[in-house]
Amino acid sequence: MLGRPLQASFPGDLSLAEKPWMSLPSAKMRRPRRSDPFAWCYTYTGFSLAFARAALTQLGAQSGSTVLDPFAGSGTNLIAAALAGCSALGIDISPFSALLSRTRLATAVNPKRVLDCLNVSTRARHLPSDLQVLHSHDEAYAATVLSKICDSLEMKPHDFWAALLADDVGRYDNEAVVVLSLSLGARDCARLIRGSNPIWYRRMSGDQNSGLGDLRAAAVAWGTSIARDLTVSEPITRRGTRIVNADFTSERFKGAFDFCLTSPPYLNRLDYVVAHLPELSILKHVAPINMERLRSAMIGTTKIVSKDDTPIPAEWGPSCRLALERIWDHKAYASRRYYYHTYRQYFTHLYTSLQRLTKMLRKRAPRYYCDSELILQRCEYGHSDYCI
Ligand SMILES: C[S@@+](CC[C@H](N)C(=O)[O-])C[C@H]1O[C@@H](n2cnc3c(N)ncnc32)[C@H](O)[C@@H]1O
Repeated sequence: MLGRPLQASFPGDLSLAEKPWMSLPSAKMRRPRRSDPFAWCYTYTGFSLAFARAALTQLGAQSGSTVLDPFAGSGTNLIAAALAGCSALGIDISPFSALLSRTRLATAVNPKRVLDCLNVSTRARHLPSDLQVLHSHDEAYAATVLSKICDSLEMKPHDFWAALLADDVGRYDNEAVVVLSLSLGARDCARLIRGSNPIWYRRMSGDQNSGLGDLRAAAVAWGTSIARDLTVSEPITRRGTRIVNADFTSERFKGAFDFCLTSPPYLNRLDYVVAHLPELSILKHVAPINMERLRSAMIGTTKIVSKDDTPIPAEWGPSCRLALERIWDHKAYASRRYYYHTYRQYFTHLYTSLQRLTKMLRKRAPRYYCDSELILQRCEYGHSDYCI
């Protein structure tokens, strides 16, 4: 692995021998067809499992090592860590991503129990959703399934959510599959028309709803395939692997880690909260979700949370400063008013994340891998142990 500080040069300037990550399998994944195994946990930004496994091996992770992924997404790096016998902590601010990675780690799924939970008769009266992306009968169905689960476990919804994510022995694996199946089913049945941009939605009018399937059928179909995939997948030992649904830039996390393998959020001007409205409309029944707070805290958010016109911190490095100065000086109307602030926010969040990572990694912990070009800047942040 990289055995010397990188500050002096960009990785692009290094020779091949100095870029060991170049020999890793591709991090990109082919978009699967819906019927493909594990299609339910595909995300565009996710690493391929082959890449994550090889990266951990190359870093020197072995059984008993501890791995951190502060932006866990669909949990590929956590699976790779579990397959290598490591324990891991996955953090993600998005309740949907946290659920996705939690479900992917499930080892004790019973397909019949999953379907039993989904095949319940809907309780008659439920308030319509404040998000209003589902039919009221679908909303009532989801609320029934989730309240029956909480009742049977004798837990309040938020306690159930916390227990589900913290569970590292498979106690709530069936429930994880059920909640995920409802969330993915909601995506299929949402009364929304997507625009050309994945974050543009319009609500369907009454007569546009007729072609939609119902949530029960969609959830049962997802539950069947998720349970099938998880029962035939390569066995993992996942004791010690936890998921936390939290903001990495502001909350406190316990633990010291040997390695960090992560794919940090991009600045791609997609609003992931809006893009996941149907899934969140299910998760709000169990998870404490404040949509506006979530939008503001997501790294790469399109929302301008605060305008900072103070000088760019010197420790961000010359490339980062140059990029921000060019945006500031660009003549387009939106450059100074909008783009400058979204980029500045993004760099601020990333810098805070790198500072936190530095503290959470054991002193002699080797580097971490990430795939965002923007993180190139961090070579100049003065952190010597990172590689992209
Ligand atoms: C590029 S994706 C990670 C992809 C992941 N490697 C995978 O295999 O799917 C980045 C993730 O960072 C999460 N994220 C964004 N802002 C965050 C924050 N402030 N704290 C923690 N997670 C955050 C997003 O929800 C998203 O799931």
